[in-house]
Amino acid sequence: MNSRVESLALPGQLAGRTAIVTGASSGIGRTTAALFAGRGARVLAVDLNADGLSELADQVAQPDSFRTFTVDLTEDDAPDRVVHECLDRFGGLDTLANIAGKAGDAPLEDTSDDDLEFFLRVNLGTAFRLSRSAIRNFAESGGAIVNTASTFGLVGVRGSAPYSAAKGAVTSLTRQLAADVGRRNIRVNAVAPGLVATPATQAKIDAGVFDDVVTRSRPLPRVGAPADIANAVAFLASDDAAFITGVTLPVCGGWSTTRFRE
Ligand SMILES: NC(=O)c1ccc[n+]([C@@H]2O[C@H](COP(=O)([O-])OP(=O)(O)OC[C@H]3O[C@@H](n4cnc5c(N)ncnc54)[C@H](O)[C@@H]3O)[C@@H](O)[C@H]2O)c1
Repeated sequence: MNSRVESLALPGQLAGRTAIVTGASSGIGRTTAALFAGRGARVLAVDLNADGLSELADQVAQPDSFRTFTVDLTEDDAPDRVVHECLDRFGGLDTLANIAGKAGDAPLEDTSDDDLEFFLRVNLGTAFRLSRSAIRNFAESGGAIVNTASTFGLVGVRGSAPYSAAKGAVTSLTRQLAADVGRRNIRVNAVAPGLVATPATQAKIDAGVFDDVVTRSRPLPRVGAPADIANAVAFLASDDAAFITGVTLPVCGGWSTTRFRE
């Protein structure tokens, strides 16, 4: 699932851009980092999984403009360390793709305060804190931030209270930051993936847990691919989306936007 990243190149869309991409060891973040590089960006690929980063770095076709940085983004000094690494390596920063995150199922009554703290810290806190450090150091000319929300933050689902609450807050953060930094020509948008086949979801997909979701409640009845999301992230990060800010774009085959009558 993590192979064939080099076939995604559409040269030029992100030429001249300098991007930080988080969650880059796996799944959506990995494909996005490779796609950004393929489309001309200098990329600092960030994750806590060093092996995954090094495997990706071996595969990208643009090694001179691709660097990796291993860090747990929930650590206190992680945002500043990531941004300074990007400035040191590439001499600037104008694009941030906040993709690192972690899902989890738990009905509210079965959660602990630690669960709530964890999902907020990993899914909201990483995007909030890294965006803050990045914005302080963004290029004078402006730039773009793309966050990763979730369809679970757009509609109510059973059994996902802490994760869905955190992802809903990512959508709210996206609107708020867009308002804060628009006058600096910094755009802030988000993608809200639906079910996508990644190492985080593959076991449940294989076990048929989501068959009903995919076949009965999506106008486009297939599981998403990481490239479906990466393409949307690249679009929102690029000048193709120059007049778009503050939106959360569902990328879910229509799951969050339609209801089917059987
Ligand atoms: N796959 C889906 O169906 C789906 C649906 C909706 C939203 N999302 C969101 O998309 C994003 C990517 O999901 P994925 O399915 O590719 O997951 P994944 O588990 O394949 O990849 C997530 C990556 O984030 C990294 N990461 C997690 N916590 C980190 C931390 N504290 N510091 C640094 N790196 C960290 C992990 O090491 C991993 O490489 C997540 O934010 C997820 O919530 C995924």
